[in-house]
Amino acid sequence: MTSALSKQSLLFTTFSLALIRFSYCSVANANVNSNIPAIANHFGTKGRYEEVNSYLINDILSVNKSLLKPGCTNCTAIHVAAIIRHGTRYPSTKNIKMMQQLYDLVLNEAMNTNKWLKDIKTKWEMWYTDDMDGKLVEKGRDDHRHLAVRLATLFPSLISEENLRAHRIRFITSSKHRCVDSIVAFQEGLLNLWKVTEVGPSHKINDELMRFFDQCQKFVEDIENNQTALEEVHLFKASAEMKRVQMKMADQLQVPYNRITPDLVEAAFFLCSYEFAIKSLNSAWCNLFDETDAQVLEYKNDLKQYWKRGYGHDINRKSSCNLFHDLFNRLDQAAREIRFGHVSEAVTIQVGHAETLLPLLALMGFFRDETALTADNFDVQNGRTFRTSRIVPYAANLLFVLYDCSEGLRLQFLLNETPQNFPDIMHQAPLYDTVRETYRELLHGCNFEKECELPRPNSEF
Ligand SMILES: *[C@@H]1O[C@H](CO)[C@@H](O)[C@H](O)[C@H]1NC(C)=O
Ligand SMILES: *[C@@H]1O[C@H](CO)[C@@H](O)[C@H](O)[C@H]1NC(C)=O
Ligand SMILES: *[C@@H]1O[C@H](CO)[C@@H](O)[C@H](O)[C@H]1NC(C)=O
Repeated sequence: MTSALSKQSLLFTTFSLALIRFSYCSVANANVNSNIPAIANHFGTKGRYEEVNSYLINDILSVNKSLLKPGCTNCTAIHVAAIIRHGTRYPSTKNIKMMQQLYDLVLNEAMNTNKWLKDIKTKWEMWYTDDMDGKLVEKGRDDHRHLAVRLATLFPSLISEENLRAHRIRFITSSKHRCVDSIVAFQEGLLNLWKVTEVGPSHKINDELMRFFDQCQKFVEDIENNQTALEEVHLFKASAEMKRVQMKMADQLQVPYNRITPDLVEAAFFLCSYEFAIKSLNSAWCNLFDETDAQVLEYKNDLKQYWKRGYGHDINRKSSCNLFHDLFNRLDQAAREIRFGHVSEAVTIQVGHAETLLPLLALMGFFRDETALTADNFDVQNGRTFRTSRIVPYAANLLFVLYDCSEGLRLQFLLNETPQNFPDIMHQAPLYDTVRETYRELLHGCNFEKECELPRPNSEF
């Protein structure tokens, strides 16, 4: 137990160092490129994929194939299971209303006369409308078209025209319009790459797999419809850190302190992030935040994801049991079939939400910090591994790659096209049996029906 724990903390340290290196690179990059807001690394689930892999800024189709070398002999990839978040989208109606409220306040009450505020008042227009409600934007289609081409370049023997024509690539999506539109864009990316002009491939909608959170009654009751479950988020909204951001913003705008609520601060942060993600603009709204402010707002978002989708409550993780079993069933099937030399299904492309990816990652033990994220440990959590800006930007993807190697089957995991060790396994592509052994308990348990069941009132009375 002790050794497993210290191994895990070693892993965390390594990963934290990697994070520091990453953010250093990206900050350096932002200075060079003034089109990128200096705070673009802190947008959480509203962040751009390119901030996670900054080499894509220069060439959106570049891939690093050397990452895939599983570090063993004679390996052939035989199956890829990809679980992907939809691409860049419009804000929700709720957030658009907040943005409108902030814009009105700035127009009518902000007294500051500096240049960027004048730009907001005279040049910027409130172009977001309620009917945009979370729909995929053109940039979001591109996110998926480009990802498709990169994955086809990474796995040419699996994501191939031949396999597409032979229906050996399976497409499954959440029913939400932004997910369906994403998977169609992904397919377009492949068809354009191979110059295929016939009728495109189809997809299946499966909310049981891709929107399991709606169907897990215990999650809906205990977390979704329960204000107390997100207590830490509410506390952080009232924290000294957040107060400081509110006051700084009120000072910048020159409005009375009591006019700036945490929700309005967040609306301004959203405006900066959406203008960037959707239109690639470093908007005047971004001037309202410095690095420290952005870190506070990033933490607020991470707290919410942690308590609603991550380690905060056990049911968050357990609600993804079906997706977990589905994944391993696919891998098991490929593992069985390869013994007879032919895998019937080469690739699975599954499109869902950040809310789909995070619970599965947590179920499998990725990005687990030793200390819980709470309202009062913002400072302590500065080096946390649970950082949604890195984990689930738009078009975030989990890739599980099964290899047939001389010494047996191996499994590699990549998050956003970067290899990640499985928790407690110090190998980039461990034997598949080792992975199965690590997840033995989940593989033999993790029953969705049981985990999600609510205690029933006794019907005998
Ligand atoms: C590709 O990845 C390898 C292994 O991490 C790294 O050493 C190399 O510099 C990368 N190459 C490029 C072009 O990014
Ligand atoms: C790798 O594969 C080749 C061709 O199948 C075979 O001749 C060779 O012995 C294998 N190498 C190892 C180390 O298994
Ligand atoms: C709401 O959440 C709190 C904190 O997790 C928990 O103690 C309580 O049982 C939950 N209430 C309901 C009705 O699920």
